[in-house]
Formats: sequence, structure tokens, C-alpha cells
Amino acid sequence: MSELDYKLSPSILAADFLKLGEEIRFIDEAGVPYIHIDVMDGIFVPSISFGIPILQAIRTITARVLDVHLMITHPEAQIEAFAKAGADIITFHVEAEGTPIHETLLRIKELGIKAGLSISPDTPVEAILPYLDEVDMILIMTVYPGRGGQDYLECCGSKVTQLRNILTQQHRQIDIEVDGGIKKSNVSHIMAAGANVIVAGSAIFEPGRTTENAQYFLEALYQNRKETVR
Ligand code: DX5
Ligand code: ZN
Repeated sequence: MSELDYKLSPSILAADFLKLGEEIRFIDEAGVPYIHIDVMDGIFVPSISFGIPILQAIRTITARVLDVHLMITHPEAQIEAFAKAGADIITFHVEAEGTPIHETLLRIKELGIKAGLSISPDTPVEAILPYLDEVDMILIMTVYPGRGGQDYLECCGSKVTQLRNILTQQHRQIDIEVDGGIKKSNVSHIMAAGANVIVAGSAIFEPGRTTENAQYFLEALYQNRKETVR
């Protein structure tokens, strides 16, 4: 028996970029353990967000775990650069065409950081099962990747439960992160489904209320945590 770690990972995609330093300070001071950094290349997903220079800048102002979510093609070509820029966790998508998944996961771990693998809503849980020996975290997208502020897709909750059951049966303590449409109203539902790393963007970053929103989620994670995994 061992405890799952519950972590809140606010997504800075919803932050005010004109005040990014201040926004990071709000969540840092609220006590969030992770900061979620969404990197989009305009090819894997239609939008372009930001990349290495922003990550480097954030690294200089916080010691929190930088949880980098790569929504890019050929993530294998960028792993070293993101690790060097200060990523503590690098997650890429199993749907990234032509990417050597095993090798890329191993390379991330060789760099001394955690490796995550993500699946989009239309990808079944089975797609990540071949990689369970290498992953530290599995990110189940609960919206279609590409932008913040979308509605949570109900269907993805059952994928979280399916995966948690498989992991429990195999006595694997792998983090399950969920990302997209997580609000105050559904965070306990998705935690009950089996998620233990919770990303929230638009539900946290809100002018004048960011600290209080982050504290609300931290308390919700504490209240809804499960004591042990079997
Ligand atoms: C979507 C991103 C998410 C997004 C979440 O592609 O991966 O991290 O910022 O935003 P909300 O919480 O607003 O749905
Ligand atoms: Zn994300």
C-alpha cells in the first residue's frame, strides 16, 4: 500500500501574459506544487502558444515543478532543449506521428526528469499500455488539445477509470493527469474517476481571484484525495 500524490497544475495558457511574472507569483504563493506549460506548434494543433524563452523566463522566478505539455510534432527533436530550459516533467502525445515513443520516453528520463505520455479524446487507453514501464505520468486529455476554456468531455472520465483500474491491477503507481475543462464543479468527479494530477487554466486564472481560486482547488484536492492505492 502506498499513497498517491495529489497535485494541482495550473495552466498558464489562461494567464495574463502581460503580467506573467505576477501571475506565476500568485499561484506560487498559493502553494501550487506544479505549473502546467502548454507548448503548441501550429501543426500538431492549430494554435501556436509559446516555447523555450517563456519556459526559461518562468524557471528564473519559481522553484515549483514545471510540467511541460508538448502539443507539437516531433517532440523527440526538442526534448533536450526543453529539459535544459528548466522542465521537470515533459509530456508528449502518443499521436505525434513518426515519434519513436519508447526511445523518447527513455531519453527524457536519462535527462533526469519525469516522462509523461498523453492521449487525446479520440485515442483509446490501449494506445498507451505498451509504454507503462517507461512513463511516470499519463495525461488523459479531457478536451481536444489546442486551446483553453473548452467544456470538459464527459466521455473522458471513463477512460481515467479504465486506466486507473489497469494500473491498480498491475500494482503500478503511475500518475494520471487530466487536462481541459476542469472546474470547481467537476474536480471531485474527475478525482473520483482516478485522476491525481489536476490541470486547470481558466478556472484558476481570473483577474483579482487567482490566488483564491488556486487555494480552492488545493483544498478540493486535499478533501477528495484517496488515502491509498491498492
Ligand atoms: C489545452 C491545454 C490545456 C488548457 C486547459 O490544449 O492542454 O492545458 O490550457 O485550459 P482550461 O482549464 O481552461 O480548459
Ligand atoms: Zn495542457
